[in-house]
This record gives sequence, C-alpha cells and structure tokens, in this order.
Amino acid sequence: MKNHTHSFLLICLLTISVINLSCKDEVEPLIPIPTPANTDTIGLRDVSPFPFGAAVNISSLKNNTKYSETVSREFNSITAENSMKMKAISQGRGNYFWDDADYLVGYAIANKIRVHGHALIWYKSTPAWIESFSGTKDEWKAVMREYILAVVGRYKGKIESWDVLNEAILDDGTLRDCIWLQKIGTEYMDICFQYAHEADPDAILFYNDYGHEYSSVKRKAINNLIAGLKSRNVPVHGIGLQMHTNINNSNANIQTAIQTAATTGLKVHISEFDIRTNTSTNQILTYSSTIAAAQKEKYQVAVKAFFDLPASQRYGFSFWGVYDAQSWIPGEYGAPDWPLPFDKDFKRKVAYDGILAGLK
Ligand code: G3I
Repeated sequence: MKNHTHSFLLICLLTISVINLSCKDEVEPLIPIPTPANTDTIGLRDVSPFPFGAAVNISSLKNNTKYSETVSREFNSITAENSMKMKAISQGRGNYFWDDADYLVGYAIANKIRVHGHALIWYKSTPAWIESFSGTKDEWKAVMREYILAVVGRYKGKIESWDVLNEAILDDGTLRDCIWLQKIGTEYMDICFQYAHEADPDAILFYNDYGHEYSSVKRKAINNLIAGLKSRNVPVHGIGLQMHTNINNSNANIQTAIQTAATTGLKVHISEFDIRTNTSTNQILTYSSTIAAAQKEKYQVAVKAFFDLPASQRYGFSFWGVYDAQSWIPGEYGAPDWPLPFDKDFKRKVAYDGILAGLK
C-alpha cells in the first residue's frame, strides 16, 4: 500500500508541477497540492483527462460509508449495476419502481458525478409481464416506446447517456434471438434508439456489448450493425465495450478491441471493465504478487490504449463494480477472484498503479 501511495503521490506531484509550470500564477492549480493528510481525498477523477466510472449497488451506496466515500472520491461517472434495468424498473404496464434509480441520480448530483444509464433494451432483462404480453407488432412497439419514454423522460437532463441496446449480437456475429426481435423484427434495434432520442434529444446513446477483445467476428459484426444504424440515420452516438476480460488475454487483443471500436467514429465507453484472475476456477487460489502484477499490466494496457484515442472519442472508462468483495465474477464462475482495482477493504490494489501508469 505504501508503494501505491508513493506512486500516486508522485503522479499527482508531477501533474501539479506541469500545471504550475504552464500556468504560472494565472490560475489556481486544477488539483490541490497533496499532503499526506489529503492524498486520501484525491482519486482517479482528479488525475485523469477523461471520466472514470464504476457500476454501483444502491444498497451499498446507502449503507456502506467506505463504499460511498470510495465512489465519490474516485469516480466522476457511475452506472447502476442493476437498478436501471427493465426488470428492476418495470413492474407492469405503466407501473414503475423508481426508488433505487432516483437514489442513484440524487447521489450523483450531490457528488458531481455523471450518470450513465444501463440498459434500456437487453434480452436478459425483460420483465415477466412483457414476456407474456400478447399483441400485434404495433402494440409491441407501443410497449417499448412507453417504457423508454417513461424512463429516459424521467431523467432527462440528469442522465447524460444511455446504453440503449445491450448485447444484440452473438459471438459468431449473428443476431441474438430475443422477444423484441421475435415480435417486432430487426426494426426493434432502430426504434429503441429513436424512442430514446425522442425522450431526450440531448442524451448520448450507446450500443453496448461484450467480446470485442476475444472475437474478431463479433467485433466486425458490431461495427457493421453500427454502420447500418448510422446509414439509416438512427441516433446512435457511442459504442460501449464491456470488456469483461482476464489476465490471459493478450495485450494486442485488448488494444485492437479499443482501436477498432474507435473506427466507428463514435464515442467509446469502456463500460464494464474488470479482469478475471482465476481463469481455471481454482477453489483454493490466493491473490499472489505474480497474479497482481499480471493484472496490473492488463489494467495499464487497457487504460493506455483508451488514453491514446482522440480526446473527443474518450467517453469514459468504467469498472463493473467498485471493490473485489462485490464483483459479479466469483458468483458467476463459482470460484474466488479479484477483478477490480480496490480490494475487499477498499484499499487500492497494485492494479490501481497500473491504471495510473496507463495515464502517463
Ligand atoms: O435482487 C434480487 C434479490 O431480491 C433476490 O433475492 C436474489 C436471488 O437470486 O436475486 C437478486 O437479483 C440479482 C441481481 O443481480 C442483484 O443482485 C439477480 O438474481 C442476478 O441475476 C443479478 O445479476 C446481475 C446480472 O447482470 C443480471 O442482471 C449482476 O449483478 C450484474 O453484475 C450483471 O451485469 C451484467 C450487465 O448488466 C451487462 N453485461 C454483463 C454484466 C455481467 O453479467
């Protein structure tokens, strides 16, 4: 930890020296000069030229002071890990549960944090009442429109961006089957963006998916999908790369994923970043210094590749969770893991140094 603090201090001091050199006495330094007493108040949001974010859990934001302090110190963008999904909000036709989403937006406003909405249309988050809905194609379109207008409209001007369509492509590059495709046809992918734009013309609208870093076929299919949306004047402004990756993935794969996404010309959001370390699902694995170093390198490579994009395309770099104790990975893979930049006690891991190194 001592080493992390030292590197963090060093980076802050270097940054401040540069700012002071270039600005002389004309303006106040952007970052307060850190002292041992206030290094704990400086986070990624203070040292990065683009937003850093995390997916957050509402109950932890409300009840865990260390959690909420870590979020407000480190991040200037947040995404709801679950509470803005259709299953969480839509309780029936015209019946919505807003409490958790409202709390998140209130917390973000109070802490000057941008909110990225996740996710309007996702095959995995369709409430039972919609799955069993019976109606014509136009009635299905009306159901989708009502929902999107209600959610995006409620947070107009408060939520800057949305994952409008999530995971519509399979790893082999074909279209994923889902209830919306069955009932509306391929047009469902256009109209969800159109409805979101209708509800908030200023919102930045993303297509979000995983697999860019391991499937070139999927990567190409996603870029084709986006090219198609653009050619039909569908309002799509950003591409979200989830990037649930692991320490065995090559640096080249990570770099190619990020660079290829940028060729769409859209804003790029690394939207759900985490790095699995226990790829063999070893039940008794411990987090060794070797694993930590490998993970640090991947964090550095990804952040650097993102930093190297044109500034206008760097929408942000978000982690899927705040700290290891609450990552979705151990539950999903049934084995211990440490995918995030903060440990179970909210201490900055070696991975955090990798992030800072990627910003150089
Ligand atoms: O809240 C209920 C609780 O009331 C109930 O008792 C419990 C019983 O299983 O389930 C709880 O809901 C769970 C929810 O997480 C909140 O913890 C769901 O079962 C569980 O399926 C859900 O998992 C989430 C998953 O998406 C599905 O929505 C994960 O936390 C979340 O990390 C994951 O996030 C996705 C992104 O949205 C899209 N990209 C992939 C990513 C990882 O799968």
